[in-house]
Amino acid sequence: MVSVLLLGCVDTSPTIDMSVYQVDIRPSWPDILIPENNPMTAASVAFGKQLFTDKRLSIDSTISCASCHKSTSGFADSVPFSIGVGGKLGFRNSGSLTNVAYLPYFNRDGGVKTLDRFSLVPIEDHAEMNLNLIEMTHRLMHDESYVKLAKTIYNRTPDAFSVSRALASYLRTFISDDSPYDRYVYDGDSTTLTPSQKRGYDLFFGPRAKCSTCHNGINLTNYTFQNNGLYADYKGKDRGRQRVTDDPRDEGKFRVASLRNISLTAPYMHDGSLPDLDAVLDHYINHGVPHENKNPIIDEIQITRSEKEDLISFLEAMTDDAFIRNNAIVTLGE
Ligand code: HEC
Ligand code: HEC
Repeated sequence: MVSVLLLGCVDTSPTIDMSVYQVDIRPSWPDILIPENNPMTAASVAFGKQLFTDKRLSIDSTISCASCHKSTSGFADSVPFSIGVGGKLGFRNSGSLTNVAYLPYFNRDGGVKTLDRFSLVPIEDHAEMNLNLIEMTHRLMHDESYVKLAKTIYNRTPDAFSVSRALASYLRTFISDDSPYDRYVYDGDSTTLTPSQKRGYDLFFGPRAKCSTCHNGINLTNYTFQNNGLYADYKGKDRGRQRVTDDPRDEGKFRVASLRNISLTAPYMHDGSLPDLDAVLDHYINHGVPHENKNPIIDEIQITRSEKEDLISFLEAMTDDAFIRNNAIVTLGE
């Protein structure tokens, strides 16, 4: 009898692995910024991974982070505006989380400064998960394995602090650095791009298409805020950077978009108003529409119709299949 009771008390939960998590990045790429107060451990990444697909983080337990950031869509969504709790629509196109560890600030208007606190934004947002953070902690306290993880990793309860930091640890593992484009540029392997993609590459970085004036660096963005001529009038529309700075000179300016896994993240632009890459290229060929904040480079872009196809194939070379299928990152279920 005694031995049966003892057996019943044996702790069968998996041990919590507090070893340092090494993010696998190309040696030639810069290190990602890992804040001293949130070191990446196997445990913090695993905790974040579980939270990412946990619908309990939304008020009615119907929506998880993965509902709007789908691996098959390059960790973006496939609709212009994602649906949050109660069928509510947000006002921006969901961001891809590819290489998010490299971003100097977050959201298309730069409204959020740190990844370590970022997750509290969607959790509390009324049109996304709409969950009060105190209520969240009460809920997660019922989950013994979360309580144990939060205690071991952060010496806290599963509260706003530990949940947002674990999610940040996990998001820092979203490294995409092995697309055909990367093997061409960083490994010098000239066989990975098709002839059309190579022509597209030369155009993209060349003086006529001018794409790389704004889209450059490892994520194909210089992280500045630019108006690329989408609308003539922003009345009743998303004013972008102006929402943060209240400066009319920032009206219609958005962070230059990363082009990582771009062929998976349709529809495009901050409001998902352009359905496919063909429409994006047409936008640039036609120089968008006039606006006093539009960057003048947009008017100087010269692309012929036949060059358009080459540029689109080039953009498709940013798709990193190994990243999308990486078991360490991909979580099933939404
Ligand atoms: C209802 C849909 C929805 C849910 C749920 C959601 N997100 Fe998002 N997410 C978005 C949208 C839309 C954006 C783009 C917002 C913007 O640019 O202003 C975004 C942007 C982000 C960004 C910034 C990316 C960048 O490029 O700056 C991060 C990081 C992020 N989400 C992580 C999360 C995490 C973690 C969760 C779960 C706690 C989550 N999201 C839940 C829709 C959602
Ligand atoms: C003056 C700077 C600038 C130039 C030049 C420029 N872009 Fe952009 N691009 C942007 C900005 C800013 C955005 C984001 C706009 C938004 O969110 O509404 C963007 C968005 C995009 C997107 C959509 C990304 C997404 O996730 O929605 C693609 C694709 C793109 N650009 C490709 C190109 C190509 C190809 C060229 C060259 C023909 C080019 N861009 C030239 C600034 C620029």
